Amino acid sequence: MCGIAGYVGSREAVSIVLDQLKRLEYRGYDSAGVAWRSGNGIAILKKEGRLDRLFQEVTQTKPTAHIAIAHSRWATHGKPSDENAHPHTDATNRIAVIHNGIIENYIELYQEMLQEGEVPLKSETDTEIAAHLIGREYQKTGDFVEAVRSAVRKLRGAFAMVILCEDEPDKIVAVRNASPLVLGIGESENFLASDIPALLPYTRDVIVMDEGDLAVITSDRIHLEDAAGRPKLPKITHVDWDIEAAEKGGYEHFMLKEIHEQPDAIRACLAGRLMKDGTVKLGDTLDEKVWTGFDRILIVACGTAYHAGLLGEFLFEGILRVPVEVYYASEFRYNNPILRPTDLVLFISQSGETADTLAALRLVKEEGIPTLGIVNVVGSSIARECDSVLYTQAGPEICVASTKAYSAQVASLALVALYASHLRGGDREKTARLQTALAAMPEFLAEVLRRREEIEAVAHDIHQAPLMFFLGRGADAAVALEGALKMKEIAYIPTQESPAGEMKHGPLALVENGVVAIFGITNPVTRDKSLSNVKEVAARGGTTVGIILDSDPLSAEVLDRSIRIPHIDSPTIAAAVSALPLQLLAYHVARLRGCDIDKPRNLAKSVTVE
Ligand code: F6R
Repeated sequence: MCGIAGYVGSREAVSIVLDQLKRLEYRGYDSAGVAWRSGNGIAILKKEGRLDRLFQEVTQTKPTAHIAIAHSRWATHGKPSDENAHPHTDATNRIAVIHNGIIENYIELYQEMLQEGEVPLKSETDTEIAAHLIGREYQKTGDFVEAVRSAVRKLRGAFAMVILCEDEPDKIVAVRNASPLVLGIGESENFLASDIPALLPYTRDVIVMDEGDLAVITSDRIHLEDAAGRPKLPKITHVDWDIEAAEKGGYEHFMLKEIHEQPDAIRACLAGRLMKDGTVKLGDTLDEKVWTGFDRILIVACGTAYHAGLLGEFLFEGILRVPVEVYYASEFRYNNPILRPTDLVLFISQSGETADTLAALRLVKEEGIPTLGIVNVVGSSIARECDSVLYTQAGPEICVASTKAYSAQVASLALVALYASHLRGGDREKTARLQTALAAMPEFLAEVLRRREEIEAVAHDIHQAPLMFFLGRGADAAVALEGALKMKEIAYIPTQESPAGEMKHGPLALVENGVVAIFGITNPVTRDKSLSNVKEVAARGGTTVGIILDSDPLSAEVLDRSIRIPHIDSPTIAAAVSALPLQLLAYHVARLRGCDIDKPRNLAKSVTVE
């Protein structure tokens, strides 16, 4: 997500941390800032927009400092702006904080602090709440490190946080909790960063902080302790990666990195929203009367986001029993859509800038119909123009082919379905099942990733196919469209995708030796029907591959090759999880065929033309 940099030593610190930020630029950001210890205390500069804008300001200031921290922000709480850029300070401006990730309980903490006195907020961020909290703890004890320890014990969420204190000008304190943080060891100087590429020009000896670790970094020492405060011996790793490999976190392609980020992306998406008691909080959202009053949902999106929308249809219709229509945004405007005041229209977009989706949104807004955006990029056009937005929190997606954004879009739709179900009294049993499956979705995805070698082996067997079918029933049919899109866009294999039952009405004519048919069979209710379709393909010489549940040994016997996923009790979440093996299959097939995976031919990441 955002970029973190830090330095303490005898060199000019500000230019080093800004150079580190520059090396993280490829990850995307919307604003940046830097804090350093000047003669008068902590100085801070922060700017919305490109790093160059911050560099210009810094150049005019000509700072000389031996300790500095810097941050490039990818907005999560609060729009991209100078005020919301990090670092943030406490009320006394003696504590400066930069932070990646999300603090789930920032509103509760704010309210608790208010009881003790005013909290003068300068931004809309969760990070600033953490700065105030650390500042308050510091005022109580005058012990910087202890103040961080006790504040962090109160924070819930996934975060990496780096803190400076005016009164301890030789010390940086860093805490890691689910967001990565790496320390770099130099000679009489030390570094820190959210990612290894930012450290490589300076050192190749790094300490990757573990979950819950706290580090106190000075120029000649790194003190490390675990979450319980027990000192730890740092494990130093020597990194041989070149810069390009480092940017991809050691993965060969951004696509593979982003596929592997899915458990964390879903954790971030659910954090602070799906509560332990099963209730859902959407923060600032549409009026309750919209939530209880709509009698139809329209979902409008393009490409992969449209495919996520198709799963939304299963979620909403299953739980709420309201009709749902899913539209390609490029078709929507020209098909004279029937819009009614009692509709709720959802717009799904990773980039938030897709021209077709934006044009459809503007049309709906002209009619005064309530709109909800499900968007990844904070502050993007679709996010700004919808009446309300639910950010998917998947983090920046760099590969043109969308992977983690898709999973986070489905998880967001599930959150919306649960939220509406609680307000409107939706189907109790289905709601409970969806809640349980959604909470466990990160672990299901992680389990599929542990089986990645089985998936790679299947890719070896099928990568020369001249044609691939992607088939399924119900939610599996919706995911088949996404599996096919991934395969054609990055591996350039022609695909034919449809509900499995449609095969016999025409497409079956294309099946012959060498053709591969990939079936999603993740719903026990339609399993037997799908297996009949598997046999139809096999009888005509096609090779059959199935994504099946662990609990389904029978399918494995019928299929030529099978890829298992954990048993999941919600058919829509099971189907969504089955997209991950399809992403990995497409990835490995493309790799075996020598394709340019991260930048497929003819395609762009953000499609801003209609
Ligand atoms: C496919 C892919 C595209 C996008 C589509 C919509 O892997 O990424 O199909 O899903 O162009 O883009 P967004 O979600 O940015 O509106």
